[in-house]
Amino acid sequence: MNYKKSLFAILALVLGSAHAQQRIPEVEQLLQKMTIDEKIGQLNLLTPGGGVATGEVVSENVGTKIKAGQVGGLFGVAGPDRVRKAQELAVKESRLGIPLLIGSDVIHGYKTTYPIPLGLSSSWDMDLVEQAAQMAAREATADGINWNFSPMVDIARDPRWGRIAEGAGEDPYLGSKIAEAMVKGYQGEDLAASHTMLACVKHFALYGAAEAGRDYGSVDMGKIKMFNQYLPPYQAAIDAGAASVMSSFNDVDGVPATGNKWLLTDLLRDQWGFDGFVVSDYTSLNEMIPHGLGDLQAVSALALKAGLDMDMVGEGFLSTLKKSLEEGKVTETDITNACRRVLEAKYISGLFNDPYKYLDSKRPEKDILTDGNRALSRKLATRSFVLLKNHNNILPLAKEGKIALVGPLADSRENMLGTWAPTGDFNLAVTILEGFNNVASGATIQYAKGANISDDADFAKNVNSLGERILIDERSPETMLQEAVDLAKTSDVVVAVVGEATEMSGESSSRTDISIPESQKKLIKALVATGKPVALVLMSGRPLTIPEEFDMPVSILQVWHPGVEAGNAIADVVFGDYNPSGKLTATWPVNVGQIPVYHSAKVTGRPAPESGEFQKFRSNYLDVPNAPLLPFGYGLSYTTFEYSNLKLNKKEINQGETISATVTVTNTGNYDGEEVVQLYLRDVVRSITPPKRQLKGFQKVMLKKGESKEVTITLSADDLKFYNAQLEFASEPGDFEVFMGTDSDAELSDTFTLK
Ligand code: BGC
Repeated sequence: MNYKKSLFAILALVLGSAHAQQRIPEVEQLLQKMTIDEKIGQLNLLTPGGGVATGEVVSENVGTKIKAGQVGGLFGVAGPDRVRKAQELAVKESRLGIPLLIGSDVIHGYKTTYPIPLGLSSSWDMDLVEQAAQMAAREATADGINWNFSPMVDIARDPRWGRIAEGAGEDPYLGSKIAEAMVKGYQGEDLAASHTMLACVKHFALYGAAEAGRDYGSVDMGKIKMFNQYLPPYQAAIDAGAASVMSSFNDVDGVPATGNKWLLTDLLRDQWGFDGFVVSDYTSLNEMIPHGLGDLQAVSALALKAGLDMDMVGEGFLSTLKKSLEEGKVTETDITNACRRVLEAKYISGLFNDPYKYLDSKRPEKDILTDGNRALSRKLATRSFVLLKNHNNILPLAKEGKIALVGPLADSRENMLGTWAPTGDFNLAVTILEGFNNVASGATIQYAKGANISDDADFAKNVNSLGERILIDERSPETMLQEAVDLAKTSDVVVAVVGEATEMSGESSSRTDISIPESQKKLIKALVATGKPVALVLMSGRPLTIPEEFDMPVSILQVWHPGVEAGNAIADVVFGDYNPSGKLTATWPVNVGQIPVYHSAKVTGRPAPESGEFQKFRSNYLDVPNAPLLPFGYGLSYTTFEYSNLKLNKKEINQGETISATVTVTNTGNYDGEEVVQLYLRDVVRSITPPKRQLKGFQKVMLKKGESKEVTITLSADDLKFYNAQLEFASEPGDFEVFMGTDSDAELSDTFTLK
């Protein structure tokens, strides 16, 4: 639901005037009273600094600015009492008493941290995603937050880019569903309620396509790819009613997003009908200077005219817009329009009605880190894990015998929450060692670190910029390795927890080598050499390149960074209390040289042979096949599923009609389990080169051992459409091929014709 649109509709009915359709009377009256300085003040978003945990509530000059009406919102302030102090400055001590927006980055849970978004997306469970966002909203609002800098919906096809951790992976269809579920979860049915908050869709746009996977890097993309592959999740979030949008750091078609009129006005507002406000990313307005667009005054005027409404931290608007107005570089209408949008968001949140509505000091205890919330986080984590391989069915483990729990992440509290969890507290996280003891108290569990996350002190220093995540042990690597090997030899089974520290992915954490660090590779090899059964629990914020480990006789459970209940959730799955059902939402390459590799790539005029063998003058490599190590949608279960009997309900359809595909799925293994049934579509002939196949539907089903179910997925008329050379969203007559199965390599197929 789009709140403002529905509000306008109600106002229009009540007042019966066209004017009411576009304007909120209270806001208009307020605008009449405002000076230019006060209007510019509303466009200013500040952070008092120091972060949520340790910072001053309102540092001196921020307080002075709030009183002077020079601040529209704050972020990095939390807790009812601290927010109240800031809010009182605005409401009681500024001339017009306009309340502040209070923002925060609640990316994967507020205090009850849940899996990183890439992990959560692997659940393919939209109800759970929405519940997760609802929980985050309830907790954050209990702490005084009314605006969330989430969802991050950037499509990412380059796992070198560390922020792939923060999104839903490579696919626009799945990404759109997740964007919608998150916006609904944060904003709920009623933004004026005290447990819902404004969503902010970011980073608009194309931030995930940075050249070479280098964060904040340049983006250059044609419109066909943009519209078909990268823009849909942003649009889905807008359609779901997202109240705000954050512009990205990168340039789009040569103009930084923050000052890009085509992006922020022509597309976002005029074409998509967005009527909320746009905030810059952190100093992205000022960063238009090094981008080469002019000085602060010039870029501020450019951004305002382009459609940016609020300036995060950099104070370019605050310090230059008045001068630009006097010099005729911007108009009063430009400033008023931006101010109106910020005020409307405050109005919709109910802040004008009651600026203290989120500030009930009893709520944190009632709503934050409750047992119920922790239980949900644990459930979300179990659903996010992806079983990559199960050699000799090593997993699940019995809750008995001697288990060697090895690896630098096995007893590491500081690496459980994942990147971008500034509101969480890793001291509250359950380690894997603790989780194993909680869940499998009948087994003897012994721990050895075995290796450092990395032995490279320079690398560790970079990773540890914001806090120690890679702790290089005082013992030598050889001593640690020997201890682990000795333990393995006297145990029945080995579980090695390996992979990335939390800050090895995330913002400003790009890597050119995305393999498991050498220190841990050595450990894995040594453990395998003992001949004991080995299960790897793999943690990371991105797809890793693991061809070597994948070839070893090991089982591999990918667990991302699972959040505050990490250890318990991992134990739930390792010991079989939950049968894993997660599926990859980004392709895992064989090596970095294959990047970008994703399931919906184009076919080319000289496709590589299906066999994967090299053929001269074909589109392939001399050294590795084109196929990735693990395709999009991939994920195993402790049971097995068989697909049969794919049928379509029609062989021909007319434009505008739907078509349904049904497939039989049978649980042929020894456990009850859930399976994500996936549907891919290939448009065989069309005016724009089609992707090889594209995800167009999925359904998660529970199948008891031995059970069969018919699963039907219906394609809507829109599912057959694409953006053509004129950027019209339309379908074209011709043949389509439907594939259904367990991942994007699904082989069962059938065809139909669109007349
Ligand atoms: C990030 C945004 C975030 C903002 C505010 C920026 O560095 O790119 O995702 O919302 O900081 O914390």
